[in-house]
Amino acid sequence: MKKKVICELYHDNFQNFKRYPIKKAQLVIADIPYNIGVDAYASNPQWYQDGDNSKGESKLAKSNFFAGDGDFRIAEYMHFCNKLLIKEPKEKGKAPAMIVFCSFQQIQTVIAYGKKYGFMKSFPLVFCKNYSPSVLKANMKIVCATEYAVVLYRDKLPKFRNTDIFGDRHMIFDWFEWRRDSKKDYPKLHPTQKPISLLKRLIEIFTDPGDTVIDPCAGSGSTLQAAFELGRNSYGFEVSREFYTLAKEKMPCFSSKGARMPGGTEVVQISLF
Ligand SMILES: C[S@@+](CC[C@H](N)C(=O)[O-])C[C@H]1O[C@@H](n2cnc3c(N)ncnc32)[C@H](O)[C@@H]1O
Repeated sequence: MKKKVICELYHDNFQNFKRYPIKKAQLVIADIPYNIGVDAYASNPQWYQDGDNSKGESKLAKSNFFAGDGDFRIAEYMHFCNKLLIKEPKEKGKAPAMIVFCSFQQIQTVIAYGKKYGFMKSFPLVFCKNYSPSVLKANMKIVCATEYAVVLYRDKLPKFRNTDIFGDRHMIFDWFEWRRDSKKDYPKLHPTQKPISLLKRLIEIFTDPGDTVIDPCAGSGSTLQAAFELGRNSYGFEVSREFYTLAKEKMPCFSSKGARMPGGTEVVQISLF
């Protein structure tokens, strides 16, 4: 059986969303810019030539991860989510949600801005890695091996799917294993690219096939790839021409090839343009 899903990436600021024919979403996922600025590569070997600090600084030293990091407008982001998530339904168990990946230090800011835009409830998620990007001075201090996100919703608990393929329900913990995607499965296109397997897990929990997922800061298009493989419609925005072009050329969901959903249904992309 073939299932057609929308999978659209726009080269634009998400703030210009009114220009595009976008379906309202059950879930908005974004990894918002970290606003780390010129310390983005601190403690990362890429700060130095060939990752070797005796060889001096590389061109990445004192640079941002990407243009625009350091200048992200979180209020406009919350406004976008409020406009583009489906309205709060009357029934229980169908409400929309958003997931904001952010640094540990940004969690309280994200929650506070969410409240200003009607997202009164939230809970944090923790992701555990078995590796650390912070290798410099690794023998002198505890290194970071976690990532964070906040799930925000307006009032009613979001749609929640915790049934396995045998029909059994399982508790879902607030921590997840963070496994890197294999380079043979997906291209590595962005310095802060999220694992597609993890994005799929989150999308499966909060949406059903046929629902819509939006990533307003799409980077490599990883969220759109995850949504595509699960038969969800998806839209993304990416302001950088470099990342937009890489994603469109290399992320498989934008090629004419389809994908197999769990259960065997083939998904194919329908283009709006
Ligand atoms: C943290 S990265 C996202 C990485 C992405 N989650 C991935 O897995 O590849 C944030 C991205 O948002 C983009 N961005 C920043 N401000 C934006 C805006 N106003 N509209 C659209 N994209 C934006 C940046 O260019 C950057 O690529």
